[in-house]
Amino acid sequence: MKNVQLANIEQYTRGLFQHDATGHDFYHMKRVAQMAKQIAVEEKANVFICEASGWVHDIGDYKLFTNPKVELTKLATYFKTIHLTDEEINQIYIAIKDVSFSKGEIPVSLEGKIVQDADRLDALGAIGIARTFAFGGAKGQSIFNDANKKGTSIQHFHDKLLKIKDLMNTKTAKQIAQKRHQFIEKYLEQFYSEWAQ
Ligand code: ADP
Ligand code: NI
Repeated sequence: MKNVQLANIEQYTRGLFQHDATGHDFYHMKRVAQMAKQIAVEEKANVFICEASGWVHDIGDYKLFTNPKVELTKLATYFKTIHLTDEEINQIYIAIKDVSFSKGEIPVSLEGKIVQDADRLDALGAIGIARTFAFGGAKGQSIFNDANKKGTSIQHFHDKLLKIKDLMNTKTAKQIAQKRHQFIEKYLEQFYSEWAQ
């Protein structure tokens, strides 16, 4: 039953995000769902709520939808058609409400904290680097400009990405973040050394 529901949610998500080119594509949702599930097992949280919330966590994002509120209402209707209970729907909405980094909030539920961690982990490491340049390119940003660093994709590493490892909610995510953080630091070192050549 739960696996069928998750497979349905996956298809719903595919329909919404398959054409995204800003680093918030279907595979971002898939990685966040899988990572949230993995962390949930370690942290003894509700695995189904974490995985389902991972799939849908970006549906209320104003950056990605012209009318996020309408999308969230449609999502609740969809959840009912695949027979999620009112309590499950409620738990998912609580979990995804404060996930966004830009909001600067800490989610109230353990499941929300886990989905936020999973989302942030996807902004680190090799994939995080790829997503940053994809986002920057899609928004017309420069890769870097040493005369005016502001608003460049490289500057985003300093403004946000290098701070993420200290913002993790769970012990499990902190450990994973450490390695991915080191990879980003190495990458920046190499970037600046090539830039200076
Ligand atoms: P959230 O959806 O949690 O608010 P963001 O949308 O800010 O998080 O970040 C999602 C992805 O987009 C991350 O991989 C991040 O690096 C990238 N991103 C966000 N803002 C920028 C930016 N100004 N320049 C480059 N990449 C960005
Ligand atoms: Ni996300």
